[in-house]
Amino acid sequence: MVRSTGYNKTRTAVLISGTGSNLKSLIKFSKTIKSPISIDFVISNNSKAGGLNYAKKFKIKKKVLNFKNKNLSEKKLLSILKINNIDMICLAGFMKILSLNFIKKFKGKILNIHPSLLPKYKGLNTHKRVLNNKEKYSGCTVHFVNSKLDSGKIILQKKVKISKKETETSLAKKILVQEHKLYPKAILKIFNY
Ligand code: GRF
Repeated sequence: MVRSTGYNKTRTAVLISGTGSNLKSLIKFSKTIKSPISIDFVISNNSKAGGLNYAKKFKIKKKVLNFKNKNLSEKKLLSILKINNIDMICLAGFMKILSLNFIKKFKGKILNIHPSLLPKYKGLNTHKRVLNNKEKYSGCTVHFVNSKLDSGKIILQKKVKISKKETETSLAKKILVQEHKLYPKAILKIFNY
C-alpha cells in the first residue's frame, strides 16, 4: 500500500489522453491540506490532449510520449518518473495499456478510473453497452492496475441511476461528475485517511 511519509506528499504523475477533467479534479484535490499526494508530472500519449493545458495552467511539468513504440515510450516514462522522484501514478482517461513489465515496477502504486461498475463493462464503449443492455444502474470505479485490462483490485465505486431518457452523452456526463469526487476519495482511502 502507498503511504505518505511525514508531511511530504507522495509525488504523483497523472497519465492522460484527452480532455483531462479528472486530471483537473486531481490537481485541485492535491492542493488541499488533506491530500496525501501532490501532482508533479503530467504525461500524455496525445500531443493534442486538452488536459495538457491544465498542466500549463497549474505549472506542472509535462511530457508527450506517443506510445507508438510502447517499449521505448515506457523506458522514457520510467526515466522521467525516476528523475522526478514520482512514487505513484494515476491513470485518468489514459487510452494506452501499460506492459506487465512496467506495472511490476510500480506494483500497487498505479490507479485507474473506469466509467462502469467493474467488473461489468471493462474496456471501451462502456455507456453504449450499458444502455443497449437496458441496465438500471451504472457508475464508476477506481481500482489498482494489474496486468489485465480494468481488472485490478477495486478501491471504491459509485453507483448512478440510469433514467428512462438516458443517452450515451447524458450518462457519460452524469458519471463524470461522480468520477471527479470518487478519485480523490479513493486516494484518501488507500492512504487510510
Ligand atoms: C473518464 O470517463 C474516464 O473514466 C475514462 O475516460 C474519461 C476521461 O475523461 N477512462 P477526462 O479526460 O478525465 O475528462
